[in-house]
Amino acid sequence: MYKTKELEPLIRTLDADTVRRFDLLLKVSKGFIKSNEKALEMDRLLLAQLQKEVPERLPAHLKPSASTSSQDAVQLIADRLASAFAHLQKGAPGGQATTFSGKVGTEDLTDELRAKVESVLKIQYQVPGRATPVLPKSSVPDFQKIVDDVMLGQNVMLVGGAGTGKTTLAQAVADALGRPYITINCSQWTAPTEIIGGQTIEGYQEGKMIEAWRNGWMLILDELPKLDPNTAGLFNDALAKSKVPGGKIFNARKEGFDRHPDFACIATGNVYPNAESVAYGANNKQDLSLLDRFAGSVYTIEKNPELEKKVVGSATLWAWCNIVREVIEELRYEAAVSLRWMQTCRDTLLLELERFERGGAKEADAGKTLGDCFESFCTQGFTAVQKDTLSERCRDKGLDLAQVYGYGYRGTPAWKNMQTELASAGMTGSKTAKVSKSKGTSGLGAILPATRNTFSVELPE
Ligand SMILES: Nc1ncnc2c1ncn2[C@@H]1O[C@H](COP(=O)(O)OP(=O)(O)OP(=O)(O)O)[C@@H](O)[C@H]1O
Ligand SMILES: [Mg+2]
Repeated sequence: MYKTKELEPLIRTLDADTVRRFDLLLKVSKGFIKSNEKALEMDRLLLAQLQKEVPERLPAHLKPSASTSSQDAVQLIADRLASAFAHLQKGAPGGQATTFSGKVGTEDLTDELRAKVESVLKIQYQVPGRATPVLPKSSVPDFQKIVDDVMLGQNVMLVGGAGTGKTTLAQAVADALGRPYITINCSQWTAPTEIIGGQTIEGYQEGKMIEAWRNGWMLILDELPKLDPNTAGLFNDALAKSKVPGGKIFNARKEGFDRHPDFACIATGNVYPNAESVAYGANNKQDLSLLDRFAGSVYTIEKNPELEKKVVGSATLWAWCNIVREVIEELRYEAAVSLRWMQTCRDTLLLELERFERGGAKEADAGKTLGDCFESFCTQGFTAVQKDTLSERCRDKGLDLAQVYGYGYRGTPAWKNMQTELASAGMTGSKTAKVSKSKGTSGLGAILPATRNTFSVELPE
């Protein structure tokens, strides 16, 4: 039943970590007598580790089964790509599906193929009568469409759950277009002074909407639905004229300002504000005339696993976070597993890995750990019954939360995978430096368009 039982003599000659895991397995399985699920899983994981690390020392029946070598796989993919390109160039439908499941990067391809692959990863941006800059294709599916809207003078609204990347995306669009941005953090307390200017104890202060309008900046209305609907009405005039060449708006002193051709507006919000929201209670139902200013340019920014995996840098860690998310969604608990929490887990894990390598469990235990991040997220705000159900369902999906809270992941194959994955994503190295440097936006350059375009184009007036 237990495969590693016969490998004890071999395991005793291996590193302390592996021996410790074997001893734990011995204990949990009561000397390989009791069959329990946890022990069987530990046995499976330990064997997988040995197959990876010391395959040559295993008896024939426990050796890993032969699979396609990565060299063969690269060749296979190269051949498939070459034939797909040949088809595409002839205008014929694409090539056959590639079934290899290993990992092959573009760096493994020949120069010629790499150039071809990279050329299809770029998209050409085209609006009649305008410059046509090329932006690298972003992992954010609607990036190009949002850029198009902005270039056409259309107001954009990004709607989606907490921490899905709306604010970052709005800023990235401004950055990619080389435009400065100014943000109004909307709430029921946002005052007209912040929008159209007004007297303060330091004298007259110009409003942010006026500044953006006259200087050609991007106006980011962060969390627009949280604004008092009457205050939101102050945007109506400007947003109705976002496309009008030389359109005029007035500040609190009734001074008029002409629209700079680069003025643009992107609003973000957790809900489309045409109704009250239960999950996002601070959002207000907004006036239909305001919503009409964004008509045709509203985008739903949902969770984006592809982006999340890149930001997290470890497919294994992402999979753990995703199990928690799946369960929370299935159980309809009021919680949002966001990219923000995933980043917190990643940064903490990097620190824990560094401390563990330097000073072992003692040093790692003394600081913040990945287990702490999971425990905090999975226990705060839930009732005792909810917490138990969450743990049970996560265990069914292969994630033992109790083990995670107790740092039982250290030394396991998953831990080693995370270490390798983070290193190959370039996130380890001078780790402490990385952790502090990464603060929320690490990997952004790799994911959002790297090019900071400095072009400035104007609508034909
Ligand atoms: N494309 C990206 N590349 C790298 N990191 C990103 C990207 N998009 C978002 N992030 C990171 O994810 C986290 C959440 O993003 P952001 O604050 O933009 O979300 P949001 O949708 O505005 O959240 P909220 O609804 O809570 O305001 C941030 O830490 C941000 O740095
Ligand atoms: Mg935001």
